[in-house]
Amino acid sequence: MNKLSPSILSADFANLGADVKRIDEAGCDWIHIDVMDGMFVPNISFGIPVIKSIRGCTDKLFDVHLMIEEPIRYIEQFKEVGADLLTIHVEACEDVKTTIEAIKKAGLKVGLALNPPTAVDEVIPYMEMVDMILVMTVNPGFGGQSYIDECTEKVEVLRAVKEEYNMDLAIQVDGGVTLDNVNVPLEAGANVIVAGSAVYKGNVEENVKRFKEIFNK
Ligand code: DX5
Ligand code: ZN
Repeated sequence: MNKLSPSILSADFANLGADVKRIDEAGCDWIHIDVMDGMFVPNISFGIPVIKSIRGCTDKLFDVHLMIEEPIRYIEQFKEVGADLLTIHVEACEDVKTTIEAIKKAGLKVGLALNPPTAVDEVIPYMEMVDMILVMTVNPGFGGQSYIDECTEKVEVLRAVKEEYNMDLAIQVDGGVTLDNVNVPLEAGANVIVAGSAVYKGNVEENVKRFKEIFNK
């Protein structure tokens, strides 16, 4: 089953709790939470206290995308405030394996992300250790950018490896996904779709419904 994980980066931060409930009630599967440190990416979003304040707004899985340097430093804090899945960047960790192990040891699910300029070979060695690979389809830092077509091929490669070795892991895409192009990553093998502006722009309920209709086609 394909999953929709709307990014709350595109929500109205003055009404964040209500905007989280809105995607929940509209029928999204996960909640995608973009944490940025102003170092790994050229932007700062929000952090641990904000996640804590919205945890009570929904029971859905908190899919926390850590665009931060050395996320190993904060695993316990993210766990404490209710993160379920921590996705770290392969480019942001001095020791990727140790970071993955630490997240698993904390009892959380773990995802590994790669940026558009990063070769897919960088994450393949970790596929067996993680619950999800996140293929970034924009350079991270901002919502509302355009999908980079060249990244689709990475999804195809990951799907092929996953099938060859019969792996049970999710393949997520994040960045520039809209109702008009979501079929591209889906056909390539992605099964968790992140969408920020395409969910929050216009009618949220209608947007979620239309994504789900495409998933179920
Ligand atoms: C980008 C973030 C994305 C972003 C997606 O750095 O990781 O999750 O919110 O936004 P859209 O869907 O608008 O490209
Ligand atoms: Zn994200």
